[in-house]
Amino acid sequence: MKTKNIKWGIIGCGNIANKFASDLALVDAAILTAVASRDLIKAKAFGDKHNAQKAYNSYKALFSDPDIDIVYIATPHVFHAALSIEAMEFGKHVLCEKPLALNAKEATKMIETSKRTKRFFMEALWTRFNPTIVALKQSIQQGEIGEIKYINADFSFKSDKPLGGRVMNLEFGGGALLDIGIYPAFLSYMLLGIPKEIIAKSVFHEITKCDMQTSMIYSYEKAQAVLYSGFESHSKSEAHISGSEGQIYIHNRWHETNGFTLIKDDKEQVFNFPMKGVGFTYEIEECHRCLRAEKIESELWSHKNSLDLISILDVVRKQVGLKYPQE
Ligand SMILES: NC(=O)c1ccc[n+]([C@@H]2O[C@H](COP(=O)([O-])OP(=O)(O)OC[C@H]3O[C@@H](n4cnc5c(N)ncnc54)[C@H](OP(=O)(O)O)[C@@H]3O)[C@@H](O)[C@H]2O)c1
Repeated sequence: MKTKNIKWGIIGCGNIANKFASDLALVDAAILTAVASRDLIKAKAFGDKHNAQKAYNSYKALFSDPDIDIVYIATPHVFHAALSIEAMEFGKHVLCEKPLALNAKEATKMIETSKRTKRFFMEALWTRFNPTIVALKQSIQQGEIGEIKYINADFSFKSDKPLGGRVMNLEFGGGALLDIGIYPAFLSYMLLGIPKEIIAKSVFHEITKCDMQTSMIYSYEKAQAVLYSGFESHSKSEAHISGSEGQIYIHNRWHETNGFTLIKDDKEQVFNFPMKGVGFTYEIEECHRCLRAEKIESELWSHKNSLDLISILDVVRKQVGLKYPQE
């Protein structure tokens, strides 16, 4: 029996929406029904490239289209909350880019809207659905490396983005922490939960005041995580999980990885998981599974998981003294 198609809309025709749309084409039963940009010419060019059936010059027009089941929101972080809420109020299910929101207060409102409107809602935390990450979490849960004692994860590159754009400008929620520091924070949270204590330090851009480097230590009852994100220089973007019975190295760049190495009893075993597309296919498939099961949240990356993660980042920001103008 043929499975029912899931009809997608994309809003914000920028960098990540482009990669996402290419991966959407690889997923069974995913139809790109419409795209929307603030600029019709841009929407049409994006729509033509990705074979969208329709192109709109406003996000609201896309939300109003009765043909669309689920909207992927790919705008700067500062617009995630208002646009996700608006889409759900229009009756759409929503997959919203990471970070889900600027802060826990916004995320709470978004989740409340999902529960009230009974619309599926998920943060596009794609790494959670990456086959390597799924497999390593399973292997750790099965006790392969014993009890986790230490996690070390980094994600840093030299950014040449314009100072006024979304990456560097505080007005758009700019800075390394929310853009890429969220990944090391996610890894520690996924494996060890909410830290008991956080120590963090940032280096700020002298003009825009966004965080250019943020280092964090998450302290747990019986473990520690040392995490780093930055826009000033390249790092290896590797992750190391050290347990009482063995170690795991997630291959770089670990947030979009194809495999990991397990070191145990003086033996090294390499596990490779070929990727479908660039890796967004797995979160798309999770959306499809949830929609077909009429769920409003994913069990793999739930509302609580997103709220916990942004709450951890709120604590980090408080520690380093990083506030957005909207707060
Ligand atoms: N999952 C990942 O691996 C990944 C990677 C990169 C980024 N992201 C996330 O995706 C989101 C978008 O990032 P991006 O790199 O795609 O950004 P981008 O290239 O700047 O695109 C963002 C899009 O948002 C729309 N937008 C709406 N209001 C805007 C405004 N006032 N100023 C600028 N753009 C506005 C624009 O689309 P229109 O002009 O078409 O309306 C723009 O093209 C961010 O939240 C980021 O954290 C995720």
